[in-house]
Amino acid sequence: MRVSLLLLLPACLSAGDAPKSVNELKAFFAANCVRCHGVDGSARGADGKKLSGQDFTDARDMAHKKDVKLAQTIRKGIFFGKVMPAFKEQLSEADATALVAEIVRKAEKGKAIAPAPDAGK
Ligand code: HEC
Repeated sequence: MRVSLLLLLPACLSAGDAPKSVNELKAFFAANCVRCHGVDGSARGADGKKLSGQDFTDARDMAHKKDVKLAQTIRKGIFFGKVMPAFKEQLSEADATALVAEIVRKAEKGKAIAPAPDAGK
């Protein structure tokens, strides 16, 4: 345990912040990603209209994507931030990796991505 914390340290230091908890990442998603990726990650609006982002709940579409690439895209953005903004200022590599594992990979159609109201930070 202690060793893995030490390994994570440089990534945290370079982003200037402590790693975000899963709840913080969910709040981050709700604030920054929903307008293109939908509340549930399906890239559909409340009215069912297709938004501009990738559908994370489409298993066939997501199957061939690698976690490392997904995390990279989140930090770098797409097409110089014009298609999707870059989030490297807000998310460390560890944060982006956790966001992929805990949110993008667990997105389910109709299940809103939101922090648990009773959970602390
Ligand atoms: C301005 C709209 C917009 C915002 C905001 C946005 N995205 Fe995207 N995102 C896109 C578009 C467009 C794509 C590409 C869709 C496609 O290829 O069909 C995409 C693709 C992705 C992909 C797939 C990348 C790949 O390699 O296939 C991930 C993961 C992703 N976004 C995560 C996020 C996360 C996490 C956030 C919030 C922190 C976010 N996006 C915010 C528009 C957005």
